[in-house]
Amino acid sequence: MTSIKIAPSILTADFGRLADEVRAAELGGADMLHLDVMDGRFVPNITFGAVVVDALRKVTRLPFDIHLMCVEPERLIEQYAETADTINVHIEVSPHINRTLDTIRKMGKRAGVCINPGTSLTAIEESLADADQVMVMTINPGWGGQQMLPAQLEKVARLRRLLDEFGNPAEIEIDGGVKTTNIADCVRAGANVVVCGSSVFNEQKSVAENIAELRRAAG
Ligand code: DX5
Ligand code: ZN
Repeated sequence: MTSIKIAPSILTADFGRLADEVRAAELGGADMLHLDVMDGRFVPNITFGAVVVDALRKVTRLPFDIHLMCVEPERLIEQYAETADTINVHIEVSPHINRTLDTIRKMGKRAGVCINPGTSLTAIEESLADADQVMVMTINPGWGGQQMLPAQLEKVARLRRLLDEFGNPAEIEIDGGVKTTNIADCVRAGANVVVCGSSVFNEQKSVAENIAELRRAAG
């Protein structure tokens, strides 16, 4: 039995019934909630910001994993100081990543660095000591429901080796296209946390059934 953590992303949930969807994820055994903040600049879509996250904080005890897909993320992190457990910022828009991660940690939050499929692992090597988590994007961010780019699992495996080599306890989170058919590959590659959007929030089965199936498939 693996100790993989499942982080449902509400991106494909029914936004008209968001509180119910979040409660269903908590009752269904989710380990945390993944919240995709998009700004319409770093990625084309705009989703929601701190006002919605504040409202959701009142309906669940699940830890919040905030994924900032926003330019200049350092200007936004303060807004999540009360609600987040982990704040994740993209390396592609963080020229001063060590300072940003340090600011997040000084707020008492876990600091995460995210890396896009087209960005080399070397871009984050110098910030690994300042991160509690690395989020490897297995899709190009912007939408839920995309197919995983399987070559990114090789990057995850390389990252796992790198962290192990330095005895770095940072967690590896995979975001994008995780399903029952590939979740075991994610675990094998070395991920500790998997984001599951459309594989959790869809019309076919209940949120609880989907989470249970993903956990079974993880091995
Ligand atoms: C996309 C987001 C993901 C997304 C994942 O940019 O970062 O968290 O919700 O959705 P699925 O699991 O459907 O790929
Ligand atoms: Zn995400």
